[in-house]
Amino acid sequence: MRRELFDIPEGVIYLDGNSLGAPPKHVAERMQEVIRHQWGTRLIRSWSEGWWETPQRVGDRIGRLIGAAEGQVVVGDSTSVNIFKALMGAVKGSERTEIVVDEATFPTDGYIAQSVASLTQKRIRAAHPSSLDLTEDAAVVLLNQVDYRTGALNDMRALTEQAHAVGAQVVWDLCHSAGVLPIELDALGVDYAVGCTYKFLNGGPGSPAFIYVPKHKQDTFENPLSGWNGHREPFGMKPGYEPDPGIARARVGTPDILSMLALDAALDVWDDVDLVELRERGLALTALFREHVEKLTGLEVITPEHRGNQISVRSPRAKAVMDELINRGVIGDHRPPDILRFGFAPLYVTDDDAIRAAETLAEIVN
Ligand SMILES: Cc1ncc(COP(=O)(O)O)c(C=O)c1O
Repeated sequence: MRRELFDIPEGVIYLDGNSLGAPPKHVAERMQEVIRHQWGTRLIRSWSEGWWETPQRVGDRIGRLIGAAEGQVVVGDSTSVNIFKALMGAVKGSERTEIVVDEATFPTDGYIAQSVASLTQKRIRAAHPSSLDLTEDAAVVLLNQVDYRTGALNDMRALTEQAHAVGAQVVWDLCHSAGVLPIELDALGVDYAVGCTYKFLNGGPGSPAFIYVPKHKQDTFENPLSGWNGHREPFGMKPGYEPDPGIARARVGTPDILSMLALDAALDVWDDVDLVELRERGLALTALFREHVEKLTGLEVITPEHRGNQISVRSPRAKAVMDELINRGVIGDHRPPDILRFGFAPLYVTDDDAIRAAETLAEIVN
């Protein structure tokens, strides 16, 4: 759709946008301007010339991509830290005993949930999204919209309703779905959501994550990391903590401005993207790749029909196969023990890339 806007080396088929998105071309130039002018010339004055509000401003730009009206998303910290904030916010004050975690979750989600459970004397119950078996013991359910290993897409509407039906809250991890399909956080009444920006959103390595706290929860949301950036009067230098009345209460410390402004620049390529069209392209690309892999290689595709922009293929020699694919210019990744992952970012992956990648895979495994 917009390949000409990206820097992808000649001869490379890049299928790892589900891990680290490719850089939009103009980001390097924008960062020169940020470093030379905003940092170099304006120096400390830049904090009051826009830097301070960057986390909320960039949060609103992401909000547009995840169905959140303004003032409900803030950018900063890592996904792991934001999961901690969201889970603590959700269980605080709850008498309920359980934190339910997607059993196939990306490990950090489970590790952070463990910390929250031990700090709040709750217990963790791992469950598959297809059979959560929720009861009134559940304080919160932590789910991934797209499974990082298989690429399976979970039904946000149905699972959010299931959690709410027993009075539990839900925290969605959107790492593998932001920038993949239209998401409707406000419309579905999601309690909290978090996600990273370095995958399909192309924010750059380690770019800051985001957290969504809907307006109606902001009054009561207690950020467990009560840093000065979340204070209602950060420059009042008061001894006691009083949270900001809005989404800024989800901030903690000084934002990583350089990374955040690289993300801000990268988001320019998303300005006019129609997410419905993007979703159609993602489905078409993944279907094309799947069809060719099945026809040419005999390998098992483990990605189900309801999927994100990823196709995962099982191979007993996954690491060696991926090393050879990369040698031949097809970049995906592998997850132990036996999974090859291929991510299709419709902004810069073409049909021809999908077919040539499957053909290269077939040359290697046959
Ligand atoms: C589902 C999911 N959650 C969280 C993370 C990473 O979290 P963090 O940004 O804290 O490294 C990833 C990284 O790949 C992920 O896939």
